[in-house]
Order: sequence, then structure tokens, then C-alpha cells
Amino acid sequence: MEGILVEGLNKTFREKNRVVEAVKDVSFSVGEGEIVGLLGPNGAGKTTTIKCILGLVKPDSGRIEVGGIDARREPRKAAGKLAAVLEGARNTYWRLTVWENIVYFAGIHGVSLSRGKEYFRYLLSVLKLEDQKDVEVRKLSSGYKQKTAVACALAKQTPIVFLDEPTLGLDVEASYDLREALRKLQAEEKRTMVISSHDMKVIQDVCERVMIISRGRLVTDEKIPDLLALFSARRYKVVISQNGDAAAIRAAEEKALERFPGCEVKRSPQTVEVFVNLSDGRQIYELVDIMRASGAAIETITQEEVDLEKAFLEVVRREARACG
Ligand SMILES: Nc1ncnc2c1ncn2[C@@H]1O[C@H](COP(=O)(O)OP(=O)(O)O)[C@@H](O)[C@H]1O
Ligand SMILES: [Mg+2]
Repeated sequence: MEGILVEGLNKTFREKNRVVEAVKDVSFSVGEGEIVGLLGPNGAGKTTTIKCILGLVKPDSGRIEVGGIDARREPRKAAGKLAAVLEGARNTYWRLTVWENIVYFAGIHGVSLSRGKEYFRYLLSVLKLEDQKDVEVRKLSSGYKQKTAVACALAKQTPIVFLDEPTLGLDVEASYDLREALRKLQAEEKRTMVISSHDMKVIQDVCERVMIISRGRLVTDEKIPDLLALFSARRYKVVISQNGDAAAIRAAEEKALERFPGCEVKRSPQTVEVFVNLSDGRQIYELVDIMRASGAAIETITQEEVDLEKAFLEVVRREARACG
């Protein structure tokens, strides 16, 4: 099984006067051929988790299996299953051309030019790198540099691939291009892939499942449509007219905030919009009762469209509240 298994992973960095618990008891699995997103704010522990799996950071404890191999016991054998593009690393040789880089990195991984040539050309075409094939990487824009790094990782033809923040620093168009390419590659190849990002659009576009990591902990692990459904069923917008009694509106806002911590209030000259995330759909009646008791006039109640961004923010906020 060319998947990934992580169990009870822990990593604490200790510096002179600073202790950072970067990864806390993280467990998950990724099935063969699955494409999974690792989503979390900066500093959440995504890169550390990936580096532990890759054998680049030594975990304090935990079990890591890649492609059925115990990666901590047999790191070299595990490395043969893995390819990665790491955040902030160059990942390529800037004085070599795109094609030379691909041939080089595939070569050190045991994929010869004669064996890989056709596939390398396919990668150039999917990643729209054909016109840059013979250009030195240092002369390329950051979008093309990143696409070259992805091509080099994929060219190794390993069953498992990690892409750490693949669209970081790319402009809108380059980011879109890369996402398109990743989607196409995944549809055609079905490799096991983990993509980390702090940008939910990337994950929502490319991945089937999302694992949300916050302050070193894995707080959510859901299929993306399930996660969105979970939140859309519960997120409501209540619009109150500003024409009513100002004190009544204030009272309604305060009571709503008290009863539903984390609800948001947006004011405009005409209306007050209250956004709530309910843990049970029936709580909407309580909210209506609060409005009625305060004497605020409700204009509309609507169920909110939820995208991954809203779901993500809610998960992270909830986690932050729970941690005080
Ligand atoms: N080599 C290191 N030494 C000390 N602290 C580190 C090191 N690498 C990461 N950290 C800290 O661990 C936490 C998680 O970092 P990281 O895994 O890079 O998060 P992410 O990739 O989600 O942005 C951060 O607080 C970061 O400062
Ligand atoms: Mg990172």
C-alpha cells in the first residue's frame, strides 16, 4: 500500500530560551492515490510534520510509515518512496536549464533519461513548461521556477509526493496555472500526494480531503465536501433593521454574542448583520427568541454559503477559544 501512516507524532524545538511544541500528538493516514491538503496558519506545524515524514527532522516520538515501510527504522528505503518540493528551498539548480534539472533529479533517483524521457515531456506539457525547456532556471519568473521544482519532484516517479506551500509567493495567474496542472496530474496519475498550504483556495481546488492543523495539533480531518456541508448547515446570517430602537438593537447584539460566542456583527447604515455558527440547527429558534425579547426587527434569516475559507477560520477560532 503506497500510502502514509502517522501515529502520535511529536516534535518540540528547544532553543536557548524558547521551547516550541511544533507538532503535538498528530495522527493521520493517507490512502494510496489520495490527494490530501494540510491546511493551517503560518507556524501551525505543517512543514515540521512534512519534514518528519521525509526524515529531515527527527521526531521526539511517533510512528511513521510510508509505502508500508517504517520510515524511522528504514529511512533510506522510505526515501525511495518519496519526493518533495520544500517551502523556501531552491529545490533546483539555477544554472541548469529546466530540462537539465529534470533529467538530473530524476537521474539521482534512479530514473534514467531513456526510461523517463517520454514522461518528462509529458510533465513539461502539463506544467506548460515547453517553451522554457532550454532556459536556465535562474532566468525564469518565480512561477516557472516553482513549476520546474514540481516537475523535478514528479520526474522521480515516486509513489508518494509532498508539496509544501507550492503556490507561496506566486502571482494569481501562476498560482492558477499550477493548481490546474496539479489537478490534471492527479486525475491522470493517482499518486499519493500531500499538499500543504495556508491558502485554502489551493487546497479546495486540488484536494479531496483536508487536514487542518492549528498550533501543532490536528483539529480536523474531513473530506472537503463533508466539511463544507457541516458548516453550511450551521452558518446563518440574521439581518436586523436599523430603523428600530437603537437600544433594542444593542441589547439584541449583546445577548446574541453572550449566547453564541464567536458570532460576528457587521453594521451598515441600514442594517445590522449577525453571523452565527450554530452547533445544532435548532439553535436558530433561540436566536430568534433573543431578537424578539429585545424588540429588534428581523428583516431576513438566511443560511450562509460556506467555502473552505470560512470553515477553516471557524475551526481555527474554535480551537483558539478552546485553548483560552
Ligand atoms: N528548526 C527549528 N528550530 C526552532 N523552531 C522551529 C524550527 N522549525 C520550525 N520551528 C517552529 O515550529 C513551529 C512550526 O513551524 P512550521 O512547521 O514551519 O509551521 P508551518 O509550516 O505550518 O508554517 C513554529 O513556531 C516555528 O517557529
Ligand atoms: Mg511551512
